Amino acid sequence: MAEKIKVALLGAGNVGSQAARILVEDNAVLEKRIGAPVELIGIAVRDTNASRHWNADPSLYTTDADALIDAADVVIELTGGIEPARTRILRALKAGKSVVSGNKALLAKHGVELQAAADESGAQLSYEAAVAGAIPILRPLRDSLAGDRVTRVLGIMNGTTNYILDQMDTTGASFSDALAEAQKLGYAEADPTADVEGHDAASKAAIVASLAFHSTFTIDDVHTEGITSITADDVAAADADGYVIKLLAICEREGENGANIRVNPTLIPRQHPLAGVHGAFNAVFVEAENAGELMFYGPGAGGAPTASAVLGDFVSLARRLVLGGPGVPETSHAQLHATGLDNVVSRYSVGVLVEDRLGVLANITRILTEHGISVDSLRQSAPKEGVAQIRMVTHSAKDADLRRAIAVIDALDTVREVNSVIRVESEKH
Ligand code: HSE
Repeated sequence: MAEKIKVALLGAGNVGSQAARILVEDNAVLEKRIGAPVELIGIAVRDTNASRHWNADPSLYTTDADALIDAADVVIELTGGIEPARTRILRALKAGKSVVSGNKALLAKHGVELQAAADESGAQLSYEAAVAGAIPILRPLRDSLAGDRVTRVLGIMNGTTNYILDQMDTTGASFSDALAEAQKLGYAEADPTADVEGHDAASKAAIVASLAFHSTFTIDDVHTEGITSITADDVAAADADGYVIKLLAICEREGENGANIRVNPTLIPRQHPLAGVHGAFNAVFVEAENAGELMFYGPGAGGAPTASAVLGDFVSLARRLVLGGPGVPETSHAQLHATGLDNVVSRYSVGVLVEDRLGVLANITRILTEHGISVDSLRQSAPKEGVAQIRMVTHSAKDADLRRAIAVIDALDTVREVNSVIRVESEKH
């Protein structure tokens, strides 16, 4: 039997305390799977007396994270936030200690620096828990699909916004009522900004795109739109046309050397597999040249589910420590560049509030035609007090053309406002 593997855990929140529980309660099983005994040597926390979801032996809690890291073979970082997590992970990696992290914000911003430190010292860095909680998606992208060419990834990677949009879809609730319900149930934070503005999903999209396309993207490469402007009317109009609105993270190859990465509300057909993802669940839909279409589905958050992903990473890297030799590494040999939005081709659902006057529709369709945009379907509600709501779905158009056309339409005298522009995903590209 190989020597004992000493584990330092940083953080004892919802996920951290569940990771500690599994390390302690399932210790014998972990030893069998790894081929060496495992010892949780300490848990670094801010307050050793705080109440926890699961209580370890009180002697394990410490506020001295650096001393704990220095005494460990493997560090599990579950504190979140950029600092001090970044400095602590770098301390471990530079000393050749392998690290498991669930810190999506840190990895989406400083992943390149962390990976370079790991490569330099020969340590391993794994972060399955950073994307879509319990769902195995990073390891499949890095290992299982290493012999294939991923062309597109569509993901529901944020449970809070999926819960909100699902409530709006199933009950007709407004955004603010659905958000209040999500907060009451504990899905949404008191400050829901990171979720509803799309930032949380954008971090995950940057991580997924880097692995899927063997490149290095950061959160700054991700075009991000949230769901705060989605109205009950948008949801009802989508439903009438056979669509449901989801906040999708979309990572898509563009040309030979580019990729566009974006998070935006998207209409998807009711029969698309992602349309059946309800409540706070996550799902990631992968299109690859040889594998075809794959879907990964499950709980995208929560203490025990996310700790499951953490422990999977831990067993895998600990096993390699025991046997020697690296596993399948992540690579960045392709180095695709982020292309931005201009050439993204998509269909669009466009809502326009217009005055009910002769020639309004003709003007709008003329402007679309002048920009090379063809209308697939169009509906107009019965005018109220001389104002009518038009809803159109376009055929595929370039984002830049669509934006230019919308600006011209918005400036028409007879147009009160363009009150909704949402992308529509349908066919495989
Ligand atoms: N806040 C995230 C969500 C969970 O709602 O999915 C952690 O990434």
